[in-house]
This record gives sequence, structure tokens and C-alpha cells, in this order.
Amino acid sequence: MCGIVGYVGPKTAGTFLIDGLRRLEYRGYDSSGIAVLGDDGVALHRAVGRIDNLVSVIGSQSPSGSLGIGHTRWATHGPPTEGNAHPHRGGNGEVVLVHNGVIENFQPLREELVAKGYAFQSSTDSEVIAHLIADALATSPRDSEDAEQRYVDAVQQTANRLRGTYGLAVLFADCPEMLIAARFGSPLVVGVGRGEHFIASDASPLAGHTDRIVYLADHQLAILRPGSLTVLHRDNGKISPDVQMLETETEQVSLDGYDHYMLKEIYEQPDAIRNAMRGRLDDQNATALFGGLNLTPQQLRSVDRIILTGCGTSWHSALVGEYLLEEFARIPVEVEYASELRYRNPPIEPGTLVFGITQSGETADTLAALVETKRKGHRTLAINNVVGSSIAQAADGGVYLHAGPEIGVASTKAYTSQCCTLAMLALYFGRLRHLSYEAGKSYIENLRRLPAAVEQALSCDALVRGIAEKYQSVNTFLYLGRQYNFPTALEGALKLKEISYIHAEGYPAAEMKHGPIALVDQHTPSVFIVPRGTTYEKVLANMEEVKARGGPIIAIACQADPAIDSLADDVVHVPAIPEFLQPIVSVIPLQLLAYHVALMRGCDVDKPRNLAKSVTVE
Ligand code: M6R
Repeated sequence: MCGIVGYVGPKTAGTFLIDGLRRLEYRGYDSSGIAVLGDDGVALHRAVGRIDNLVSVIGSQSPSGSLGIGHTRWATHGPPTEGNAHPHRGGNGEVVLVHNGVIENFQPLREELVAKGYAFQSSTDSEVIAHLIADALATSPRDSEDAEQRYVDAVQQTANRLRGTYGLAVLFADCPEMLIAARFGSPLVVGVGRGEHFIASDASPLAGHTDRIVYLADHQLAILRPGSLTVLHRDNGKISPDVQMLETETEQVSLDGYDHYMLKEIYEQPDAIRNAMRGRLDDQNATALFGGLNLTPQQLRSVDRIILTGCGTSWHSALVGEYLLEEFARIPVEVEYASELRYRNPPIEPGTLVFGITQSGETADTLAALVETKRKGHRTLAINNVVGSSIAQAADGGVYLHAGPEIGVASTKAYTSQCCTLAMLALYFGRLRHLSYEAGKSYIENLRRLPAAVEQALSCDALVRGIAEKYQSVNTFLYLGRQYNFPTALEGALKLKEISYIHAEGYPAAEMKHGPIALVDQHTPSVFIVPRGTTYEKVLANMEEVKARGGPIIAIACQADPAIDSLADDVVHVPAIPEFLQPIVSVIPLQLLAYHVALMRGCDVDKPRNLAKSVTVE
């Protein structure tokens, strides 16, 4: 996790650094810091907690200097203290750096450096990198003709000794016009401006500064000066940087009058779904269109097994995808936690296609799972929101969600866009196989009904706020659903626990009898997702079982039904849509419930404790 930024050019570096860190705060917010090189040397400011705290620490004394680096931290090694906040200094302060990633062999490296007399100021793994670079510089002659090469060699030698992952931005106290960036396993981009260059963990800090961007790849190192950019590869030496055009617009990441990004993103879902479907429904052939799969219809027709992998909410959408692809494409599907798949060695047949599902495209476990399956020779595709992300680049092809930036840590619009994209993939694969033209036409008609259905579902907001008021103080929630809405139950529980810190469990409704029913009492509400469908009557029976034990019931239902009204204490009606699309509609009240409960409990909805938006460490 963590976000890093860097600037070298004619302007005051601090302005870009602070603004950039604010845009990267979603990557971690345990502490932050900046270092700016000015006439009086390196000015270093650090603070525990949010960027606002750093701004207070800096006060009106904004450091002058036009070269600097910054960091926002999600703690891995060492607690979130000021001493552990980045930037870190190496040697006697001649090297200053920020790091995103994890150094797995930091302990032996630290022991070696301590034995050499280096004094550590923090308990982080990152500080070893700063001292290693200082150590490499100490052993290289100062009078070398090419001074730049000396710094580059020191960073490269250090990189060669690191095991783990890193995105680095390094400044040198005696080098007022040069920054070095290096990457392995953690994302890093370079912004190319006029007479200035920028470093960032992703493209968002660059919006408004430059639209030209270079995505650094693993083992690449960039030397940034105001008027020049040199990119080197560890094995291939100097390479020509691939400058791409940045598409992010600054307006897209504003709050637009909403109190929180999460609420804004919940309300953006009708449009996000429209965008996911835009240009992808082919009425003439009653199928879906995907430009980026990079596989021929023949190759896709020969797929006889699909693995869907991801983490957290993306893993939940994979579960929805499993139901969809098996029902409509008749292809066997397995859903794997990426964190498990990456270390497992399951037998994978040649006809298997592996999809990595991810909002950010930076989740370390999903990336590693895809890279490992690709290494074994399997075709890998990404279902991904962030254009140009690490996973988009690592996969053989894929589908972008086009949901727009998702800033709130709790994933909402990415989830419904992923489910919608998986529904289109099920149609596409189905139509390549046995699904009839007529069935394809009716499938498309139903997909087209989705944005309006989600819009209508959002009108339950006030009702859900009332339910949140009633239950805001309970300790445990159960979420129960079946078939297509079993993942909805998991997703509702995850939303609530991650932002309100209430214990919540999602289960297939019938599984309740095998253990969780022991939790039911008058203080433990059960949320039943009970739309009309194949298991409707069965779920009603499960509601009876909870009712018989005095448990309060909140029902997410499709239409008025006296049976539900008599069983449930609270009923939220959402529009009815065919069962296979219902999860996209039924999840709306659950997102709103989590939002309102968290707000009433005084929690930080967009930046819940201990979490970060992108989990770029394993
Ligand atoms: O960016 P990704 O979709 O790969 O992220 C995966 C999970 O970290 C993410 O979905 C997480 O579970 C969310 N905070 C859930 O709301």
C-alpha cells in the first residue's frame, strides 16, 4: 500500500507534493511526510494520521525548494508513529527516500548495516534501503567523471539486494536537480511536464499538471531532471520511455456536493452500469461485444473451464460471475481467493481461462495470482476499473469497467459494474456456444433495464436510514441469501463491518441451521435478501426459523407479500428484475444501510480504520 509522490522542476515542490498526497490518501493514511531540497538543505516534515495533520505540522512555513518527495503510509513494519513515517534518511542524511512496498529480507540487511555503524531511526523495513544506498555511495569514488552515474549505480546496486517489492523515489542532499525513481512489484508512474517531471504511485496526482505519463515497469529506474527523463532497465540499459496520454479528469474525483465519496459512488451506480454496457450490446447478433479480450472467437469457444479470482468485494462479484457463467455459458467455473491461488498449485488444463477481477488493478495478491498462472502458460484476462493499472498491463487482455474513479475505501459502484460486466461475459460466452438468438435478445433487454432498476432502488434511502437508526448500536448482524443472492449477503456483511466496525457475517440462508443460528437472539438482526426466484419459499422458511427464535428481521424483497410483511420487522422493496441480475439491484439497500450505520456511529466512512483502498502488499 502507501502512496508516493515526487517533483522536480521550476515550481515550489511542496504544493504538488501535498496535493498529490491528498489524492493518494486512499492508499493509506497512518502517517504522511514530505522532504524538500532547498537552499538550506533538506527540510523534512512528518506527521501521524491524515494529510491534514501534516499540513498543520508544516503550518505557514511551507518549505521552499523545487525538488521533493512525499509519502502517505499504510503501516506494515512498525506502528504508525512519526518516527516510522516516511521520508527516511540514509547515512548522515545524504540520501532521503520514500518507499511503497515490503522488503522481505530487511532483517539481515539491517543487521549488516548496524554492524557497519549505521544508526537506525525507525523500525520500518524501508529505512534499510536508504542506508544501503548511502553505503553504496560511500564505497564509490566521488571524483568519477559522470556524477549522475554514481547515484544511479548506488540505487541499482541496492535494488539488486532487495527481496520483496518497491516503488521508490530518492533524492540526494548534494544533488539539487535530480530525482531517481525505481520500481519492482509496486506501481509507479512518471509525469512528463514542460521543464518539470513528476513521480506518483498512480496517475491521479498528475491530473491538472500534465497529461503525458510513463508507466514504469519492473526493474526499471528513471532519472528525472527538470528538462530530461532517462529510463533504464536493469538488464537492457537505456530504453526509450513509452509516453502515453493520461485520460483522468480532475473533476471526476471531486465530491460534487455529496458528504462522502461512498455516498456519491453509491448514487453514481446507474451511470456506472450504463458506462459498463456502453457500446457492448450487439442487438443484431444478440450478444455482447468486447474489444480487448485479444482472443479469437475460435479460441474462446474452446475454453472449457474458467477460473475467476480476486479479493474482497471483487471476490464476491466473482461468485456472482460463477452463477452467471455456469447458467448461461454452461462452462464450469471456479472462484478462487487470489491470495490462496497464488500459492496453490491446482491442476489447470490447457483450455482454462483465468480472469483477475479488480477495481484498482493493483491488488498484490490478484496480480501475483495472474502472473503465476500466466507463467504456467495459461491465458489471463483482467476485469479492471483503473486504466493502465499493473494488472491491466500484466494480463493478456481484458475488459475495463469504465466506472470512473472509486475513492471510498468501501467498494460500491465497482462491485455492481463488475457484476454487470460478468453478466455481459456470460451472454457473450453463451452466444458462442448454445444460447439461442431469442434468449440472447431477451437477455439484452433485461440488461438494459438495469440502470433504471438501480435508480429506483436508490429511492429506499430514507427508509434505510430509519432502519439504520434502529439498529446502529447492535453488536452483530447476520446477512442471509441464496443462489445469486448468497454473494449479496457476503457483500452486505463486508460493507457493514469494514466501515461501521460491527461484526457481520454473510451466509447462504440454508447454512444458517448449521451454526450461525446460535447467534440469533433479540439483539442480533438478520438481513434476508429474499427476491422472487427459485428459492423464494425456502428463504421464507429460513425467515420463520429466525422469527421463531426472536431474532429481528430486515427483508430486502421485490414486491409486497403478506408472508414477508408478517415475518419481517422491516421490509425494503427493490424493483424486480430477472433473478440473474437481481444481485445488482438487491445490494443497493445494503450499501446504504452500511453507510448510514457507519455515519451514525461516528465512523470515518471513506477512510475506515486499518484499511486502505488499494492493497498493494500481500
Ligand atoms: O481493487 P480490488 O478490487 O482488487 O480490491 C480488492 C479488495 O481489497 C476490495 O474489494 C476490498 O475488499 C474493499 N474495501 C471492499 O469494500
